[in-house]
Amino acid sequence: MPSILLAIHGWDVQPWMEQLKKALPHFDLIQMHDDFSPDRIDYAVAWKPEAGYLARFQNLKAIFSLGAGVDHIMHDPDLPKVPLARVVDPSLTMQMTEWVVLQVLFHHRQMHLYFEQQKAKMWRDHRSQPSAAEVRVGVMGLGVLGQDASRVLRALGFDVAGWSRTAKTDLDFPCYAGIDGLDAFLGRTDILVSLLPLTHETRGLLNAQIFAKLPRDGRLGGAFLINAGRGGLQVEADILAALDRGELLGASLDVFETEPLPLTSRLWSHPRVIVTPHNAAISQPERVAALVASQITTLESGGTLEHLVDYSRGY
Ligand SMILES: NC(=O)c1ccc[n+]([C@@H]2O[C@H](COP(=O)([O-])OP(=O)(O)OC[C@H]3O[C@@H](n4cnc5c(N)ncnc54)[C@H](OP(=O)(O)O)[C@@H]3O)[C@@H](O)[C@H]2O)c1
Repeated sequence: MPSILLAIHGWDVQPWMEQLKKALPHFDLIQMHDDFSPDRIDYAVAWKPEAGYLARFQNLKAIFSLGAGVDHIMHDPDLPKVPLARVVDPSLTMQMTEWVVLQVLFHHRQMHLYFEQQKAKMWRDHRSQPSAAEVRVGVMGLGVLGQDASRVLRALGFDVAGWSRTAKTDLDFPCYAGIDGLDAFLGRTDILVSLLPLTHETRGLLNAQIFAKLPRDGRLGGAFLINAGRGGLQVEADILAALDRGELLGASLDVFETEPLPLTSRLWSHPRVIVTPHNAAISQPERVAALVASQITTLESGGTLEHLVDYSRGY
């Protein structure tokens, strides 16, 4: 009977255990605290495993990240180089699209002003509201999540462009690629949306140099940052400084350099910052366990895995 190890930190393991048991009744499911021989483990399903932990499983055939991102696994220098697959789930994608669209609309419709006014019982129309078509949204990361968010933002009428590592020729909106395309992309971005993975190339990318290149003469009167990729992409001191200088007019952040966001962070109380607790798109055990089970069943019957991570790219 093949064995699956649940290498899960920071989440309740029980729902994953129950759903995997339901989906793979003939597999042996093992938890980290169980007494077992490491050689027995065929597969690991993982969320934030400790660095070095997976190296002891010599017979591992594959690792499954329980999230769309894999930085929480790839940071391990001793990671066994077996196939590593990530989650691609239409329901998770839709959750993220909802969150991104909510944040874009929040800034586009100047909701921070109206929240303040409501508190003061003030009836005041600030300035003419631009149409979505007059607002330029720039989506960093044109993968599964970035493309879906772009699709819905375009359906709402926003002037969307995208940026990715490699050039995209099959998308019907302006796309920029690589460092060479970055300045042109930033120069036409009023609302910057980051849906990038965290890799050695993208770490710290959302910094003062980037914010300084965002235009201030757009129809919203300045630029906004929305990040739901990973906290390691952003330099929080630079975000706060850019907000103070007016280079950024507002920010929506779901992810942070340190999570949970420390109580001492000024981001919590900044009037122009929206903070959500890394829940833009959550892996649901009942959906994701079924997807992982289907991948394992495919592999066991001689098929190939989908959504594999490229170790050289880091995502
Ligand atoms: N906050 C949350 O709740 C939450 C939930 C799920 C996922 N996430 C985050 O969202 C990330 C993206 O997910 P996904 O499924 O869309 O990933 P994906 O399909 O792998 O897409 C990644 C995109 O980023 C681009 N990219 C990677 N490195 C780059 C670089 N150095 N420069 C420019 N572009 C680069 C890729 O370019 P190419 O197209 O050229 O390869 C691709 O377009 C995940 O890695 C995870 O960190 C967050």
